[in-house]
Amino acid sequence: MKKITKAVIPAAGLGTRMLPISRTVPKEILPIVDRPSMEYLIREAVDSGIKDILIITGRNKEAIENYFDYSIEYKDILQAKNKRKELAEMEEVCSLANIYFLRQKEAKGLGHAVLCAEKFVGDEPFAVLYGDDVMVAEKPVTKQLCDVYEKYGKAVVGVCSVSDEDVKRYCSMKTEKQLADRTYLTTDMVEKPQTDAEKFSNLAILGRVALTPDIFDVLKHTEYGKGGELQLTDAMKQLARTKGVISYEYEGKRYDMGSKLGFLQANVEEALKHPDVKDDFRKYLIELSKTL
Ligand code: UTP
Repeated sequence: MKKITKAVIPAAGLGTRMLPISRTVPKEILPIVDRPSMEYLIREAVDSGIKDILIITGRNKEAIENYFDYSIEYKDILQAKNKRKELAEMEEVCSLANIYFLRQKEAKGLGHAVLCAEKFVGDEPFAVLYGDDVMVAEKPVTKQLCDVYEKYGKAVVGVCSVSDEDVKRYCSMKTEKQLADRTYLTTDMVEKPQTDAEKFSNLAILGRVALTPDIFDVLKHTEYGKGGELQLTDAMKQLARTKGVISYEYEGKRYDMGSKLGFLQANVEEALKHPDVKDDFRKYLIELSKTL
């Protein structure tokens, strides 16, 4: 079984749920305290043993590229001021992984963004980290999925159990049979089920998948849906129906950085762990809560 050594991070979406800021700051680079969310994703991939990472970008997304580039001005200033810690941090971020960038010329959906990665991926399994989903977990969520892929040799979709209300917004999985703890064989799925009769289960795909390269052929034969978008879930559904995929209920906390609430939750919770601010921030929240 080939190991997963490549990751694709689609980050070219328009981010309409984060307007107006997303018109000028890509949602994938919004800060969590003092680091862009994209750094969390890169670190998750690296901590999962993945060194080759392709970020799919689009117009107005240059800030993502710039963040991982070397910054000569800062290097000179930090050296002159003897700020060694900051300098070391900058150098570390720039050398985390082999990061490649490719532009999706039009935001034609997540499936189309993944299809843009075909040349980069070649004939290998690969991980997809949805660019606006940050995961905080003891064992990186991507690593959890890679391990399941290596065990079963099938595409793996990361799933979470969501409420009856939320499942209407996501893709509900048909869990054919349980293979192991948190692990299910899946032979069908339904996107945005609006009634109980339509849904298969409350397990929904959220944020991470590990795919086999046959997804590209499936994507090429998948029809564009509403809004002219090629949906990755439509292709994964096809893969599930023909070859079966594995649903894996990953362990970890997910923050949807593409939503205002998710952005705020990530910042509050990570600030409470951040060595520079955690004590003062906790005191501030306690005082604030008295006024709520
Ligand atoms: P989303 O559906 O959450 O992104 O896609 P969106 O379309 O930007 O969201 P809204 O609804 O308008 O707010 C998940 C990930 O896939 C990327 C996004 O950037 C996001 O990180 N994506 C989406 C692409 O790369 N290309 C696309 O055409 C669509």
